[in-house]
Amino acid sequence: MNGSQKIAIVGAGNLGIAIAKGIVEKGLRAPAEIILTRRHVHELAIYEKEGFLISADNKVVVAQSRIIFLCVQPNQIDALLVEIKSEITADHILVSVITGVSLDRLKDKLIPKCQLIRAMPNTAIALGQSMTCLASNGSNGALELVVTLFQTLGLTMIIEERLMQAATVLGASGIAFFMRYLRAATQAGVQMGFDTEEAQLIAVQTAKGAASLILENQSHPEVEIDKVTTPQGCTIEGLNEMEHQGFSSSLIKGVMTSFNKINQMKS
Ligand SMILES: NC(=O)c1ccc[n+]([C@@H]2O[C@H](COP(=O)([O-])OP(=O)(O)OC[C@H]3O[C@@H](n4cnc5c(N)ncnc54)[C@H](OP(=O)(O)O)[C@@H]3O)[C@@H](O)[C@H]2O)c1
Repeated sequence: MNGSQKIAIVGAGNLGIAIAKGIVEKGLRAPAEIILTRRHVHELAIYEKEGFLISADNKVVVAQSRIIFLCVQPNQIDALLVEIKSEITADHILVSVITGVSLDRLKDKLIPKCQLIRAMPNTAIALGQSMTCLASNGSNGALELVVTLFQTLGLTMIIEERLMQAATVLGASGIAFFMRYLRAATQAGVQMGFDTEEAQLIAVQTAKGAASLILENQSHPEVEIDKVTTPQGCTIEGLNEMEHQGFSSSLIKGVMTSFNKINQMKS
């Protein structure tokens, strides 16, 4: 075992903090067993008050931890790898959540010896509601361990690494896509006479209910749509108008545009 069983979040920004909070929320680790790092370490003072350990010294933190989440931006990873390379050992499990950075690129830059996993969660991880896709290019127990960890923070799926860009768009960018739907539905609700808060609550709880119907009934969206569309009723009329205006088409085109963009990024 390298160092302790501490978890390090290297690059504790939006996603890193969400992961740390989710881990504590689910009782997997106490805050004192999680070390958060960033260069502007003063920005982490509020988390230190919550009991997390904080540091600006990635090398020391890596030496003190076993599971290391790499949560920096894609253009920050190369400098970080140069910095921590000397501290990495075969016992370390490195989990990269960095968009578009392949396992091969990490391996080349680093550490053929340590266990590498790529994970793509989304920001709902802070509430234990993430969809996390994971890939690993080695057969080792580390993937199992990391999957177990992410399973407590939502749902997980092990995928081939070639699908990681698609998983990023569907699962991580997907949060933004659904938020835009919720905002639009809220605006429609306001136009029909609700206050913004009322309209938003109705839209959000309805979206949650719709997702639960699929997740819990294991049914198909069209089966659930059939249940709420009466012949000549208002729902089918609205649905058809949405399709005439290109609803499904614009969604698919938007997702594919994100996918094309992510594929142009350096991996
Ligand atoms: N947000 C999402 O929904 C989401 C979902 C899946 C994956 N991702 C991926 O997750 C990564 C992080 O995203 P994010 O939204 O959390 O970005 P972010 O808020 O910008 O967080 C990155 C953090 O890394 C820190 N940092 C940069 N260089 C560092 C270094 N050398 N040592 C220590 N800390 C360093 C930055 O703080 P300082 O400047 O103070 O160092 C910053 O707080 C990205 O690669 C993104 O593609 C994001």
